[in-house]
Amino acid sequence: MLDQGQAPPLSQETRKPVNPLMRRKPVERLISEGGQGEGGTLRRSLTMWQLTMISIGATLGTGIFVVLGTAAPKAGPAVTISFILAGLTALFSALSYAELAGSVPVSGSSYSYTYATMGELIAWICGWCLVLEYAVSVAAVAVGWGQYLNEFLDGTIGVTIPGAISQPYGDGGGFINLPALVVVLLSMVFLMRGAKESATVNSIMVAVKIVTLILFIGIGIMGIKAGNYTPLAPLGVTGISAAASTLFFSYIGFDAASTAGEEAKNPKKDLPRAIMLSLGIVTVLYVLVAFVAVGAMPWKDFEGTEAALAQIMTDVTGTSVWGVVLAAGAIVAIFSVVFAVLYGQTRILFAMSRDGLVPKVFAKVDEKTGAPRANVVIVSLFCGVLAAFIPLGKLADATSIGTLFAFGLVNVAVIILRVKRPDMPRTFKVALFPVTPILGFLACGYMMFSLDAATWQVFGGWMVVGLVVYFTYGIRRSRLATETEEEVATAEK
Ligand code: ALA
Repeated sequence: MLDQGQAPPLSQETRKPVNPLMRRKPVERLISEGGQGEGGTLRRSLTMWQLTMISIGATLGTGIFVVLGTAAPKAGPAVTISFILAGLTALFSALSYAELAGSVPVSGSSYSYTYATMGELIAWICGWCLVLEYAVSVAAVAVGWGQYLNEFLDGTIGVTIPGAISQPYGDGGGFINLPALVVVLLSMVFLMRGAKESATVNSIMVAVKIVTLILFIGIGIMGIKAGNYTPLAPLGVTGISAAASTLFFSYIGFDAASTAGEEAKNPKKDLPRAIMLSLGIVTVLYVLVAFVAVGAMPWKDFEGTEAALAQIMTDVTGTSVWGVVLAAGAIVAIFSVVFAVLYGQTRILFAMSRDGLVPKVFAKVDEKTGAPRANVVIVSLFCGVLAAFIPLGKLADATSIGTLFAFGLVNVAVIILRVKRPDMPRTFKVALFPVTPILGFLACGYMMFSLDAATWQVFGGWMVVGLVVYFTYGIRRSRLATETEEEVATAEK
């Protein structure tokens, strides 16, 4: 018996389910669900500067402190140009991120943007790639941390951690990279305290790393020898572009502010600003540091030199004190990348969980701290284990390919949203539309194809696993699975 006034259940024909692969989540609905988790809500506490610091925190670290050392022998002194090229590639996508973050200010970053524009399957693939960009890069970055930790310990107390416990399995007789595991677990402890506290810790670390790089520039400049700049590009254009692909890794993370959309005080205005500002600051620092580094140390000497920037400081000043200071700065810098990127990954999974595509536990919010604590623990343990056992190079390339794929999709999402929702309010608009996002898309594709076959195999394997997970879990558990075309359409109005 129906209660009086209760609508009769819809017949099978009336309840026309949405095509699972194409179902899109309306922008308005994404926004209105903002912050809501299982058993609590995220808190809006982050200012524009804190958001900028999250992006810089996630970006500036291993790339400049470690990967520069492997890129310099590929390009010679022209590695400075490689940094500019990689930065330009990042810029196209950053503009697209800024436009979308300003109009769809949620925590899922590109996963949510694709959910609103290209449908659930593509959104899932994007989210799955973001795991490469975030979780796997946490591991890659954590692996590089140990190098500077050793440099620091050696310079201060004359001790280095034995290779067996400071190198991943298979690398130079290593068994486990304990420092990498430690840095991930330390970040976990801080992240359990919620966004506001995390942002404060992050801002302090970002200040330390910026000061460290400024110090490097100030001291390193005194060691520049004009002869080190000639020939400028000993390995030609091929060398410059190979180094640019490697260095793209150093720009990954500028988009991290877009994972904080549901914890920002004024996301529509502040997210685009934070993304563009962080990319600008980071690019200027990278180019100056690279210019000074290859001016102060012959490019061939970078080959095989671990912790190259610390080495340069020691050589220029003739005392190891400054090398140790730099190593200390690098330790903080790389720690902050692990920290900020880990933060981003937890928030992306939070959004995916709320949509039903990953288990509910990822959206569970602790009432006292406003942090998704269980999510933080699971993600940290996953990253910690990866970091402890897998070598940096393999992880870094897997990160780059996944990121480039996600960035490519963001460029497409900007175009779709402009065409489908031309009147939607936008606080930031990509200049020279549609040329810029098209160039962004092509640049990402070009960079992807310059990565080696082994990286593509890892990527292919990762995608297959992702599709299996989606078709066995997400497709049925998706919250949109229970809704009809009419319901979804109503939510869009
Ligand atoms: N861009 C980050 C770094 O360089 C991943 O450490």
